Amino acid sequence: MFHTISQPILEQMRRLEEADAKDRTDGTDRLKRLRQIPPETGKFLALLAASAPSGKFIEIGTSGGYSTLWLSLACRAANRRLTTFELLPEKAKLAAETFTLAGVTDIVTLITGDARLHLPRLTDIAFCFLDAEKEVYADCYEMVVPNLITGSFLIADNVLSHKTDLQPVVERAQNDSRLDAVVVPIGKGLLMCRKI
Ligand SMILES: C[S@@+](CC[C@H](N)C(=O)[O-])C[C@H]1O[C@@H](n2cnc3c(N)ncnc32)[C@H](O)[C@@H]1O
Repeated sequence: MFHTISQPILEQMRRLEEADAKDRTDGTDRLKRLRQIPPETGKFLALLAASAPSGKFIEIGTSGGYSTLWLSLACRAANRRLTTFELLPEKAKLAAETFTLAGVTDIVTLITGDARLHLPRLTDIAFCFLDAEKEVYADCYEMVVPNLITGSFLIADNVLSHKTDLQPVVERAQNDSRLDAVVVPIGKGLLMCRKI
């Protein structure tokens, strides 16, 4: 998967990495910043997603589409499709450009708006990456978990970088008998859940 990344995807990854690094130092407003996952988190997500069972792949929090590109590698390898949700129209526009330039529009569907309006209807979820504002994590968790299929993965980012705010969601997952959960200290800290 990582040895055969297409040139268009590599170019878009590099472009977004540069834009994200610039955002972090030039005083860009927090909501406008890309706030992407680091590459090692992308690789971890892609490896996990490639081993997820057959079913729907979703992402909550697209931003400019960087994490989506990593997940698209798994989709290409495992013949899956991914639906990604972005709240802000200007970020969705950027992500749409990313997907066109990277050549992944055949496997990625981008939906602009609050993911919570769509999640209750999304059944048979095989893989979910949650990377939105911390305030919506608990809602998203409760909407996604009942719709996960056996052996599927729910991965939530930022559980170590925003430990205090996200600890209730981590504890909810670790005490939830519907799944097994562990915190993985990679990047900003991933909560990794596997549906039983
Ligand atoms: C940390 S960024 C995502 C970064 C992206 N996953 C990446 O690594 O490239 C969080 C994104 O979630 C979006 N967001 C926040 N709440 C949302 C919601 N309820 N539904 C969909 N997107 C949401 C924000 O607008 C922001 O673009």
